[in-house]
Amino acid sequence: MSKRAPAEHPIHDLVAERWSPVVFSEEPLTPQQIRTLFEGARWAASSYNEQPWVYIVGVKGTDGAWRGLLDCLMEANQAWAQHAPVLALAVASTRYARNDKPNKHAWYDVGQASASLALQAASMGLYVHQMGGFDPDKARERFAIPDDHEPIAAMAIGHLGDAAAADQGLAKRDAAPRARKGIDEFVFGADWGSFPDSLR
Ligand SMILES: Cc1cc2nc3c(=O)[nH]c(=O)nc-3n(C[C@H](O)[C@H](O)[C@H](O)COP(=O)(O)O)c2cc1C
Repeated sequence: MSKRAPAEHPIHDLVAERWSPVVFSEEPLTPQQIRTLFEGARWAASSYNEQPWVYIVGVKGTDGAWRGLLDCLMEANQAWAQHAPVLALAVASTRYARNDKPNKHAWYDVGQASASLALQAASMGLYVHQMGGFDPDKARERFAIPDDHEPIAAMAIGHLGDAAAADQGLAKRDAAPRARKGIDEFVFGADWGSFPDSLR
């Protein structure tokens, strides 16, 4: 199934083809595929090139990390994420290593790294579904996340599953059309709230 974005202006295939499914296949990813995904995250921009991201990664059927990550998800997310072969948790380092001052850009930087990872995945025909629906305290305890780090978002990674064989409630979610605000709703010029005349 393709859920290519019905873009109103021409965009790159990778951007158009990335979306967040809830029907994942149980097909495992290879260690090389997983390394490549995080290599994608690695090359994101960050404030002072601090790269304030850590990813806790669980590969189904290997060590206990996958199960531990699944346990941290909200039930509604567990319902579909349990089929994904890889789960991960993006964690921000919240102080600059260079001077120990608070890094207010850390959240932005982690988001950029995860976006790079998602686009890298799209280029490989893989899918990433990010989740804010997890218990950060549970994650902190389970994975001994230090005080100067903050869990930001969980993610499920894998191949798209077979909608016909899946729970039909989940399949229906994946079949829903994609919707976005128009760029005129978030691109402003001289006047707050107004799309610039120069771009019309
Ligand atoms: C930070 C963040 C948190 C999210 N939390 C959840 C979540 O807990 N459960 C869920 O099913 N989807 C979650 N999503 C996925 C969004 O709902 C999804 O990205 C959005 O609806 C746009 O759809 P698309 O990614 O398919 O384009 C989250 C996405 C982001 C970036």
